Amino acid sequence: MGGDQLMRKLLAIESSCDETSAAVIAEDRTVLSNVVASQFELHQDYGGVVPEIASRAHVRRILPVIRQAIADANCSLGDLSAIAVTNEPGLVGSLLVGLTAAKTLAMSLNIPLVAVNHIDAHIYACGMGQSSDVFPCVGFVVSGGHTNLYDCRSATDCRMVAGTTDDAAGEAFDKVARILDLPYPGGPSIQKAAEHGNPKAFDLPRPMMRSDQPNFSFSGLKTAVLYAARGVPGPSQLSDTPPHLVPDLAASFQQAVVDVLVFKCRQALKSLKYRRLCVGGGVAANRLLREQLQHMCQRHGFELLIAPMELCTDNAAMAAIAWEYLEQGRTSPLDVDVLPGLIRAKRWTESAKSERCPTGHLRPLLN
Ligand code: KG4
Ligand code: ZN
Repeated sequence: MGGDQLMRKLLAIESSCDETSAAVIAEDRTVLSNVVASQFELHQDYGGVVPEIASRAHVRRILPVIRQAIADANCSLGDLSAIAVTNEPGLVGSLLVGLTAAKTLAMSLNIPLVAVNHIDAHIYACGMGQSSDVFPCVGFVVSGGHTNLYDCRSATDCRMVAGTTDDAAGEAFDKVARILDLPYPGGPSIQKAAEHGNPKAFDLPRPMMRSDQPNFSFSGLKTAVLYAARGVPGPSQLSDTPPHLVPDLAASFQQAVVDVLVFKCRQALKSLKYRRLCVGGGVAANRLLREQLQHMCQRHGFELLIAPMELCTDNAAMAAIAWEYLEQGRTSPLDVDVLPGLIRAKRWTESAKSERCPTGHLRPLLN
């Protein structure tokens, strides 16, 4: 890939969930390499990420992935000025693998370590490759673990304003795919099945659309799909989803999720009084969501920035945000720890617990 040999470079490491990734990023934010080893084949049979399997795979893959990233960037360890690593939020065992590798490299090369927040990195990815600054904006991270809206005053000052009271949007895609007997990961397979379906065939709920509060909830929608696919619990309930219903159910579910996501983004833009929306995370790869966000933003005069496809799902290149910290003179001590839970989300979840389940009587069946 090349790049200016005199430009400072950092190595970024990402292992918060089920992707082992390393990237070399120059000081001008040029991505010189971005190697992503996906584990989806290891988790496919389980319909979701198995934390222990993920950590073990990270241990096996982390060094080859780092070596490949260095080679692809056409540089050597001695050319690096800093090591960036995701230390929050994510699966504790997975995060520990990346953080341990990063600390070891930073210590042995005697260069600074910069621990980055994975969610902030997802938002930062929207601005990568843009010629102008994307902040301030509403940040929206929609992935397997998060459906969060942020008041982003700058790259390093993003404050959470809404999240999900139960399942994240990507998690709902993955669980509904299991109900419909579609392969993991659920998002892409539901999108594909929906191509041949009618999004109006099933009248599924749009959770929290009529609520004043900005949060999301998807577990009731997931249960509604289950009942539509197999019948309500009772002697006549089916154990499998009839295959002829799958395209219509996939299309109706996808439409319901997208309607809610687009509505909540518009609500956040209006209440925070920002003109720009930055969207990142795996679900931002969804074609219908991209189209309908574009449509909503055009209609209301907002600017939309969605992370490029290759930077939507987990990758180390988006840890380029570490350069922002380095420019502010902020580095991390070598005893920095992993923070598996999203601190900001935790604070928010405590107050959300007292809320009534927005989907009323539909008790989530799959968790
Ligand atoms: O950001 P990501 O790679 O990992 C997390 O941090 O969670 O997101 C993975 C999630 C999975 O739930 C996957 O089903 C979903 O993103 N996803 C999609 C699509 N591609 C990936 N969801 C809907 N449509 C897609 N095309
Ligand atoms: Zn992610």
